Amino acid sequence: MRHSRRTVVSTGLALAGAGLLRTWPARGADVTFSDDPFALGIASGYPEADAVVLWTRLAPQPFMPGGGVPPSAVEVEWEVGADERLRTVVRSGTVDAAPDWAHSVHVEVAGLEPARDYWYRFTSGGAQSPVGRTRTAPARGTMANRLSLAVACCQHFEQGHYAAYRAIAADAVDCVIHVGDYIYEGRGTSRVRSHDAPECHTLEDYRQRYAIYKSDPHLKAAHAAGPWMLVSDDHEVENNYAAEHSPLYTPPEVFLRRRAVAYQAYYEHLPLPRRLMPSDGRQHLYTSRAFGDLAAIFMLDGRQYRSPQACPPFPLVACAEIYARERTMLGEEQEQWLRGSLGASTARWNLLGQQTVLAHFDQSGAGPPAYWADSWNGYPAARERLVATILERPVANPVVLSGDIHAFLVNDVHATALDNDSPIVATELVTSSISSAQGRTQETFDGWKAENPNVHLARGDQRGYLRIALAPEQLHAELVAVDDVTRADSPTHVLAAFDVESGSPGVVR
Ligand SMILES: [Fe+2]
Repeated sequence: MRHSRRTVVSTGLALAGAGLLRTWPARGADVTFSDDPFALGIASGYPEADAVVLWTRLAPQPFMPGGGVPPSAVEVEWEVGADERLRTVVRSGTVDAAPDWAHSVHVEVAGLEPARDYWYRFTSGGAQSPVGRTRTAPARGTMANRLSLAVACCQHFEQGHYAAYRAIAADAVDCVIHVGDYIYEGRGTSRVRSHDAPECHTLEDYRQRYAIYKSDPHLKAAHAAGPWMLVSDDHEVENNYAAEHSPLYTPPEVFLRRRAVAYQAYYEHLPLPRRLMPSDGRQHLYTSRAFGDLAAIFMLDGRQYRSPQACPPFPLVACAEIYARERTMLGEEQEQWLRGSLGASTARWNLLGQQTVLAHFDQSGAGPPAYWADSWNGYPAARERLVATILERPVANPVVLSGDIHAFLVNDVHATALDNDSPIVATELVTSSISSAQGRTQETFDGWKAENPNVHLARGDQRGYLRIALAPEQLHAELVAVDDVTRADSPTHVLAAFDVESGSPGVVR
């Protein structure tokens, strides 16, 4: 029996005044659900050599306030097995799903073996979740001969189907790297499919939005197929926000309330470790994971600590203000952390997962230079500091994984951004959107590519993701494009492939 069809039964515990309680009596075997409480799926994330995070959220009626679960804690059992049918359970336990966190659970399973697949499932109220696959990282001191990744971002629900996630699920990679715009707070134009929920402002609005997005079977399948690491960008809160600044000049104290509930809903719906749980309206999202001696992946937050975009009205800017030395993308604390962590990394490959385009990219067309104010091109001093950090040690084989622009770009990052004769410091692979629309024509992207010699490919006309196979001597990246984003079952194809050889930054087609 996968799940009971009975309605939620309250079992004698008084619910009066429950909204005021901060600790909840846990209810386990005596709870039953009218519908599948695992309708929003299951997920895993942030793999370590001996540990991984497991996630689910109880929501038998995901589009109802409270998800259809009464406002008390509900006991959830979890099991991790060595085989797909969980015949051999190697770790198990129970955890309380609390209403304050939308009955989500984030289980940090430890004591696992390195570099191997595990399977997991949850049970609550007599209902059992599907079985998910996850994978631990290789151990320190070992050089894995292969690591497979998918890089994804920008998945506007209304602007397209998730055929890209269908392909990611089939790839069953070692880790999915998501670099932002997991939800969109607003409605879409050029709709392929529709939800009738309005722009998000309240905690309930954001929870509903995640419920809508996570109702998609291909997104659920991609989560169930392997672990993820993520950073949010702007649309998880509000388009183009910067730290405590709303682009609509909402008073910061008002905007910070909206940001706090948006951060909370993000945590509630994703397989983040408890260390990345928001508190007091802030969320420490940046972190790293080592994959043995082969790779280290650094996930950066270029949104929560940044200076406001320069020279409004953006998006395209060219004013002197962008060059101010004090302008920051990561904030001082994160810059220091990255300098220390990158400096200490002994990995053969060092991957930076982050939101916006890093490499120099003049988007003026024929005129004098003009830059996308929201990307690193609007924060050139911050980019210089990041490049200096990479050059300092120097960091072995840095590769930047970016998103945001709804286009595939393959870029060289030069030591001096404006000087294409200066040494290449890093390769940047920018993934296109999973489904979000691109307003600009391919002719526009062709024009930008022509005036930026450090840009090897620029395709704004394709949706999709990056599929990366990493080996000690080489990174192989495939740009996977969706044939038809209006179809959930669309095939995908490899649009182009690039290699980066160990010890020589810059791509080979
Ligand atoms: Fe986006």
